[in-house]
Formats: sequence, C-alpha cells, structure tokens
Amino acid sequence: MATYTARLADLPEPEIADLIAARPNLSMHAMDGLLMDGVPLNAVADALGTPTWVISAPTLRARYQAMAHALDQAGLGAHVHYAVKANDHLAVLRVLGAEGAGADVVSEGELRRARLAGIAPTNIVFSGVGKTVAELRHALAEGISQINVESAEELDILSAVASAAGRTARVALRVNPDVDAGTHAKISTGRARDKFGIAYEDAASLYARAAALPGIRPVGLAVHIGSQILSMAPYRAAYARIADLVQTLRAAGLTVESVDCGGGLGIGYADEPGGNPASLAGAIRASLHNLGLKLMVEPGRWLVGPAGVLLASVVLEKRVGDPANGSRFVVLDAAMNDLIRPAMYDAFHGIVPLSAVDAVRPAGAADVVGPVCESGDTFARGRLLPPLAAGARVAILDAGAYGAVMSSTYNARPLAAEAMLDPSAGPSGFAVIRERQKLEDLWAAEIVPDWLKSGIG
Ligand code: LLP
Repeated sequence: MATYTARLADLPEPEIADLIAARPNLSMHAMDGLLMDGVPLNAVADALGTPTWVISAPTLRARYQAMAHALDQAGLGAHVHYAVKANDHLAVLRVLGAEGAGADVVSEGELRRARLAGIAPTNIVFSGVGKTVAELRHALAEGISQINVESAEELDILSAVASAAGRTARVALRVNPDVDAGTHAKISTGRARDKFGIAYEDAASLYARAAALPGIRPVGLAVHIGSQILSMAPYRAAYARIADLVQTLRAAGLTVESVDCGGGLGIGYADEPGGNPASLAGAIRASLHNLGLKLMVEPGRWLVGPAGVLLASVVLEKRVGDPANGSRFVVLDAAMNDLIRPAMYDAFHGIVPLSAVDAVRPAGAADVVGPVCESGDTFARGRLLPPLAAGARVAILDAGAYGAVMSSTYNARPLAAEAMLDPSAGPSGFAVIRERQKLEDLWAAEIVPDWLKSGIG
C-alpha cells in the first residue's frame, strides 16, 4: 500500500498546503496558526505543553454520522460497533456511544471501559484470539450481546464456562476467509496463515457442533480481514465467501441470524482520498443483502484516525555534513514511545507546522526524529519542511487511531497529555482529558526489595 508503508518513490511528496486542504477539519489561520475544527492548536500546546494528543469531538461525531448514514442509505440496517482498540479513551467512547455506537472489545479492560462510558452490554461484542477464562466469565456475567469465537478450542472452553455459570453464550464464529486484504503484513488478518479465525473449510462443521454444545447458542458469523484497507475487492471476496457459508449452514437446517462484517476501512494518510463508507456498504450489500441477516460493522481507524493529532515541539535542528548535501534532522520532543506507527509499520503521517509563517517558508528535505535512542525513532524521512527553530511546533496528523493507545514509557518518558476539542468545553474550545503522566508515576508501582536497599551511596 503506497501510503500505508512509505510513500512510493514516484508519488510526489504532499506539500503542507495539500495536507491541510485534504482534511476538512484543518485550516491555517494567519495569526492563530493551524486550527482543528476552529480551535487553535497553539492554544492547546500553550496550556498543556508538548507532546500532547488532541482529539476532536466534532470530527468524531461527523465521521460516525457519515458512516451510519452510508450504511442506512445502502438499506443495510447495519449497526456500528466501534473497535475500541483504536482509541479507548473514556471521553472518545462517550462521544461515540452518545451517537449510538456499540463497541467491539478484545479484553476485559476494553469491556470495562465501554461499560464505564455507558455503552450497554447488549451493544457490545467481544472479539480476540485468546480470551481468558476470567474474561469469558466476566463477559457472560455482563450479558454482552455476542462473543466472536476464533477456534474450536475456544468454543469448548466457552461452553464449559457458560454451562458452569448457568448461562447461554450468544456466539458468532469468526471465519478466516483466506483473503489477502493487500495491506501491511503486520495488520493483515484474513489469510489462512494468519492466527485469526476458524479455517473456512472447518466453519460449517464447527457451527453444527456449536449448536449442540451446552451453554452455546450460535447466532452467526464474523469476518475481519485486516486494517487500513483501501480497495474494496478483498472485502467483496470475503463477503461473498461468508454469504456462501450462510447458505450452506441454512441448507443444513442451522439458524444464522447475523453477520459481523468486521472493520478495516482505511483512511488517507497523505493527500489521497481515504476509504469510503458508501463503497464499503456497497461491498457488504453485494453479497449479504436480502439474506434476512442482522448486519454489523466494527470500524476503528476510519472513525477516529483523522479526528486526532499529536502536537510536538522542535527540540533542535541538527545538521550533519556540509550544508548543501549533508543530513538535516528535525528533532522533536515526541518520540516512538508516543506514536509508534512510523517505527512499527513504516507508516506515513503528515507533519504540519502550527505557525502560518513557518508553513509558507521555503521547504527542504529533513528527517523528522524523536529523542529515543533507536534509529527507528523516525517519524519521517526526506520530508519537505521549512526551517524550524527550537520551540517551533508541529502537528503529526491522523494520530487519533492507534496513537495514544499504543504508547509506552520507553526511555522513562511519561505518557503524553491529551485534550479534547468540543464547543461544549467553553470559550477555549477544549478540555484536558488526560493529565501528562508524572515522572514519579513511572516508578510508583515498582518495589525495591529490602535486601537491595542498603549499601549504595
Ligand atoms: N475488528 C477486529 C476483529 C480487529 O482486529 C480490528 C483491528 C478492528 C475490528 C478494527 O480495525 P480498523 O477499522 O481500525 O482497521 N495498530 C495497527 C492496526 C491494528 C488493527 C488491529 N485490529 C495500526 O496502527 O495500523
């Protein structure tokens, strides 16, 4: 994928103005600098410092509504279960929950977050390849609407757990359709060799077995082939196979009420258009319409990615070698421990100066890096950026999905602060939704055994 990994060499580097023009929630104000949904990002950085995540509630709402509208327009009656893993902040879950989103969760922690944010158990599905007995027990006790089972082994465990608890688990079998979504290898999930789901050939017999197991009620099928998918062909191929399976199961006298169509719709990380929910709805409709199925989708990235940015400040610009041909490094105060996507997937993220003056100065190529002691701590290579003085600020774009949730404290760097933009926040237009982690919190849970406490210093 051109824009998923590095940009292809023959694609022109997007200019700062192109990056802004491609995003309806961004604009550049001559005095106030970069605005997100009308709020100056400089004001957020002034209040909270950097690095700081910013997530926009109006963008979250607009994207949720666009997705729901596309599904409605296609006459699918499909319900959106937001994939909580993309951004699990309670405030984000509340915004999406208030819009009507259910949740797709993959751990007890995510389930508890969704419940804390007010999402009803009947609106929650539980996915994942390795749910523990404790997690299954908790999910059953909460009475969630569906557990997506990923293996014969898990089905047996769930049957035992449900029977012991005197409950019946509503189960969808997650089928691996053996379709290559053409995305980055680390986030491709629907090929036969990936760890996810039940082999297509085994699904029908396992469904029949599920119907006979105590504590299990099979209600349908689930499929999810990967993430950051921009072509509809793999979706169509996967849904066609699922539709065939539905017919096979029904022909065998089994009841199939629902299909969970998964997530994975991609976004435009540079200046290209992202995935279109109407096209996804069309791909679902092509195979799964008119089968009398209750349909659902599990988008994560598409809903939240473009709603967030990571604000960072320039620590210094470092030049190596002669000024004409040497290297130029823009060293930021944000690093791979904050946003790991470039290091982990060679992902492209747009980088835009917050100052309108900086944004129009002549740009030259620079590597944009963080302070962590690894060469992989690189946000961009050969990126066209104007000269940036120490203290100049930038926004790293499309950081709302798989950003803060994947942060670590590597190099003893505290987790960054976070703000939410929302007109309801009052005149400033934003509210702090996570304090910057304190350094003391980094070691607060660590225990130094008594026998190590004497003898030093
Ligand atoms: N449903 C299931 C079962 C999933 O495993 C995932 C994502 C989703 C839904 C939501 O997918 P989305 O709509 O967000 O593409 N950390 C990687 C992405 C990992 C995706 C994992 N599963 C990244 O930063 O690109």
